[in-house]
Amino acid sequence: MLVGFQSLEKCFSVDSLSVRGTIPQWLNGNLLRNGPAKFEVGSNRYRHWFDGLALLHKFSIKNGKVSYQNCFLNSGECKENTEKGQFSYRSFATDPCGGIFKRIFSGWFNRFSDNANVNISKIGRHFVALTETPMSVEFDAGTLQTKGYLKYDDNLKISTVTAHPHHDAKTNTSYNLVSKYGLRNKCYFYKLEGNGLKRRPFAESSVSNPSYQHSFAITENYIIRTDIPFYVKNSLKLLFGRPFIENFHWDHEKSTVFSVFNKITGELIAKHSVPAFFTFHHVNAFEKDTDIIIDVVTYEDASIIQSLYLENLRGTDLHIPFPETQLTRFKLPRNKGAIKTERLYQNLELPRINYQYNTMDYRYLYGIGVHSKTIFDHLIKVDLKTRVHRTWKQADCFPGEPVFVPNPHASSEDDGVILSVVLNEQSQQSFLLILDASSFKELAVATLAKPLPFGLHGIFAT
Ligand code: CO
Repeated sequence: MLVGFQSLEKCFSVDSLSVRGTIPQWLNGNLLRNGPAKFEVGSNRYRHWFDGLALLHKFSIKNGKVSYQNCFLNSGECKENTEKGQFSYRSFATDPCGGIFKRIFSGWFNRFSDNANVNISKIGRHFVALTETPMSVEFDAGTLQTKGYLKYDDNLKISTVTAHPHHDAKTNTSYNLVSKYGLRNKCYFYKLEGNGLKRRPFAESSVSNPSYQHSFAITENYIIRTDIPFYVKNSLKLLFGRPFIENFHWDHEKSTVFSVFNKITGELIAKHSVPAFFTFHHVNAFEKDTDIIIDVVTYEDASIIQSLYLENLRGTDLHIPFPETQLTRFKLPRNKGAIKTERLYQNLELPRINYQYNTMDYRYLYGIGVHSKTIFDHLIKVDLKTRVHRTWKQADCFPGEPVFVPNPHASSEDDGVILSVVLNEQSQQSFLLILDASSFKELAVATLAKPLPFGLHGIFAT
């Protein structure tokens, strides 16, 4: 089994990592990352990689030196499961034991997990850990200690919300996409202006079969919801029934539908249907001439969910059935006309861009390279203009999400660095890799003496 899928038992910190190479003088700040890191509770095991208890990581870079610390997010689920040695919340794919009566009488039927193990965001002055349930779990970015749920200044009714909010720097407004299950299911976006904590809902639609929503896209004037045919047939069962993701059904006969809304008024501008695909991640979207262009990492179907069950990831060999992905560009006409589809690149995940270019006609994106033999073993830089792409690869190494940090005096889109936490499976050591984002050549490596579990998403904060 890859050590990256094993549990970390105890948090630790390292004051000074051994650094090879030279870290740019301008690069000062913290790489904050999140991910599942503990997969056993007492004698019980979680079933899915996305169930694992959240571990916060911090690589601090200052004057060419690097320190590291990690800390488990002290969520309600983490506290209660650890105390009781059993599962007490309904998580992504793991069910607390017991039948429907036990569920109802024990009162947990509406207790969705607060184990926010997917991403990190800064909301106003607050650092929060995010998953797809309504609670944003605030933590201290200095100590990584959990503070509690962030208290929003509203009473929005939320069943699920994505862990990939967008921020529009021009208007200092954040956006996110909510699903609300019940007798009448609905989806809506909310906006959060300035440093406030009052979320204002807009662009609401009734949906009979809510789709799984992991991310969405914004352009200068529009906000786009992508309904994939991986959807809930009976939302009441979701509220009272099985683990979250087992309520979703894949139907290849149905289309994927893009709903385009005006970002200011919430008015539905257009709906566009394309052949079925599954996705976690939108890469970027922008307006060009009469089109809305939206780039998405697409899968043929939803089998990736199955691939990431721990029984598949923790096999005796390293051959993990990771399905093929396509970086797909959809050109949606703003008025009348046909939708154009273009495949731009194959087999990447965890896409990141220079976020200053979000909503703009951008040139570069970065990701991890995936394939069925060794899951993810290289980093990629995709050049959408020249189509001359670059990769970083090292024997026995498994890189995590590449985070782009712009040079403060940048003269081009790729003027900056890529930060990626890499696991060397052979030496069982993780390291922070710093690449020149332009040449994709190594600038520096800061090595820990220990392995870290694979993470999901994170941010660089100064
Ligand atoms: Co994600």
